[in-house]
Amino acid sequence: MSSAHPPSSTDASPAAAPGGANSAHTAVRTHHRILLTGAAGGLGRVLRQRLGGNCAVLRVSDRAELGAAQAGEEIVLADLGDATAVHAMVEGVDAIVHLGGISVESPWAAVLQGNIVGAYNLYEAARKHGVKRVVFASSNHVTGFYRQSETIDAAAPARPDGLYGLSKAFGEDLSRLYFDRYGIETACVRIGSSFPEPKDRRMLATWLSYEDLHRVVVACLSTPVLGHTIVFATSNNSVSWWDNRLARHVGFVPQDSSDVFREAVYARTAAPDLNDPTAIYQGGAFVRQGPFE
Ligand SMILES: NC(=O)c1ccc[n+]([C@@H]2O[C@H](COP(=O)([O-])OP(=O)(O)OC[C@H]3O[C@@H](n4cnc5c(N)ncnc54)[C@H](O)[C@@H]3O)[C@@H](O)[C@H]2O)c1
Repeated sequence: MSSAHPPSSTDASPAAAPGGANSAHTAVRTHHRILLTGAAGGLGRVLRQRLGGNCAVLRVSDRAELGAAQAGEEIVLADLGDATAVHAMVEGVDAIVHLGGISVESPWAAVLQGNIVGAYNLYEAARKHGVKRVVFASSNHVTGFYRQSETIDAAAPARPDGLYGLSKAFGEDLSRLYFDRYGIETACVRIGSSFPEPKDRRMLATWLSYEDLHRVVVACLSTPVLGHTIVFATSNNSVSWWDNRLARHVGFVPQDSSDVFREAVYARTAAPDLNDPTAIYQGGAFVRQGPFE
């Protein structure tokens, strides 16, 4: 059976790709009205400052206080677990950057509500209101039980390192379903560690600068044909566990690198115990967090 839908990460043709050069993308207006969920969070605040330049109207949402609307902004408070509120949040937008939800290993009830019920509510609202593109903040913890000695690509099966990673794997599968059935394109952006600078030796491999975070989001919003694509999001670090060849059509070209912090990170951190699971597995400390009861 042929499909009218654009390709997925496993069938997209790199030959049809627009190519890299995405430093210019960050100034590109990709959509009229973009919804940014989780806008009160760490990365939400980073993108709230930057995404306004990529749309006419930035609708920011969270369950937490968002302060006053800035120029070009709309504020919609919503709990992702509340389907009615989520539908109101999504109505009228052209694209969604979905950062909202539980962002660390947490008790099941919170993960269930924020990341599983919340993701379902968001995709149902996207379907109902005709939104055709989502950038979903997934996580490296979807594959946290691969070893740091391995390099994986987007075709590697999920190996979540906890309930949080499992919920992101659910979000990835959910978005795949909504692509295959309804043609809603999604980039599952497996964010490494996005902070001002790498905090430890693991983050020398996983670090994503804030500017590269913006670059990857804009690349996913602006690439003509996204399909359903898993994108590993790190800066251009010399050490890497992830191969992005199946996301080449997105055209994300990171411009920063953790390498400039390497010496300082080594100077202030002890060598890891190589028998410690947190040094063996890609998920790092997450592989040992929980259970919580
Ligand atoms: N920071 C990183 O390095 C990193 C790494 C991998 C993935 N991610 C993902 O990126 C996204 C943003 O990360 P962050 O570091 O900014 O996290 P954060 O915890 O700082 O922000 C998450 C935001 O989501 C909101 N939220 C939580 N539950 C909600 C609910 N039920 N309804 C509405 N809003 C809710 C919170 O109020 C918060 O403002 C998350 O989805 C996270 O899983 C981040």
